[in-house]
Amino acid sequence: MKALILSGGKGTRLRPLTYTGAKQLVPVANKPILWYGIEEMVAAGITDIGIVINPETGEEVQAKTGNGDRFGANITYILQHTPAGLAHAVKVALPFLGESPFVMYLGDNLIQQGDLSYFLRKFSAQEQDALILLRTVENPSAFGVARVDETGRVLELIEKPVIPPSNLALVGVYFFSPVIHTAIANIQPSARGELEITDAIQYLINQQQQVTACQLEGWWLDTGKKDDLLEANRLILDTYLVSSPNSQQVYQNSQIAGRVQIGSHSQVINSTIRGPVIIGDNCYLENCFIGPYTSIGNHVELIESDIEHSVVLENAKISGIRQRIIDSVIGQRAKLTLAEHRPQAFRFLIGDDCHIELM
Ligand code: G1P
Repeated sequence: MKALILSGGKGTRLRPLTYTGAKQLVPVANKPILWYGIEEMVAAGITDIGIVINPETGEEVQAKTGNGDRFGANITYILQHTPAGLAHAVKVALPFLGESPFVMYLGDNLIQQGDLSYFLRKFSAQEQDALILLRTVENPSAFGVARVDETGRVLELIEKPVIPPSNLALVGVYFFSPVIHTAIANIQPSARGELEITDAIQYLINQQQQVTACQLEGWWLDTGKKDDLLEANRLILDTYLVSSPNSQQVYQNSQIAGRVQIGSHSQVINSTIRGPVIIGDNCYLENCFIGPYTSIGNHVELIESDIEHSVVLENAKISGIRQRIIDSVIGQRAKLTLAEHRPQAFRFLIGDDCHIELM
């Protein structure tokens, strides 16, 4: 069994963060989203992992993730020159996949720990050509959607339907036998010009091949948008974060309550932290309130500020903000400060596609 993790795509819905980096490397609880998928594979016993990368962000993904040693896996990088669809990515990965069955995992998806192992056992237990996962969603038009009969058998799969036949979305985790390659060879690009994996699975269904659909009960997030990213951050902190006391931080006159993890050489002065909260290495916090569900990356400086339910990336600086910051994602090296000189006014240097909400 092999794994194919897709780490291409433009990440348009996470701009501006994705102008400077891959969406799969955006951190959730201070760890790149992509790494959760890799860890899930290894936990399920799959160590032969191919990662499909694109020319724009591939080098960064490769440099950060490495050859797999840190995960106990063997990672092969596969370059997809053009973003021509998920099924196209499988086509490009054929030399890596060979005749092996495989799990395909979209690198910006997160599913609950343990679910991958569970469905892998289900897939391996029977002769099947595809096992797909479905999950009820509120906005099915944004996904591949399944039309199922009363017994749950899939009749039809439609990619991003305008009028969805159900609220059952295709989760970005698929189990395939090598028969999928024949299906991919027989489909045409969709209206958006992509070879859709949804169409390839539909081809298998039309050919009366063994396609099983299972409903996913645990949580699933496609982290392609800000609110989903914050939700993923909340869930990961809520479910997995443990306090990690160590002696390499400095606390002065501070209250720390709940589950809080603070990295090495970070200083917390005159501040209150209410977990679950993760703070990276070499951070400086003074006169701050850090509320639940906040992740703060390495080398962040936070002074005279209140923040909660937010993700702050490496080297950002926030100081003197009088209102509480909530539901926010602050990019690397971003600066959010209070003007020291008059006139009192907002002064911005805002990058393309930023979202700012003032009250
Ligand atoms: C892709 C698939 C879609 C699936 C979704 C899950 O969409 O094409 O069928 O439901 O992933 O995340 P995309 O995220 O590429 O728009």
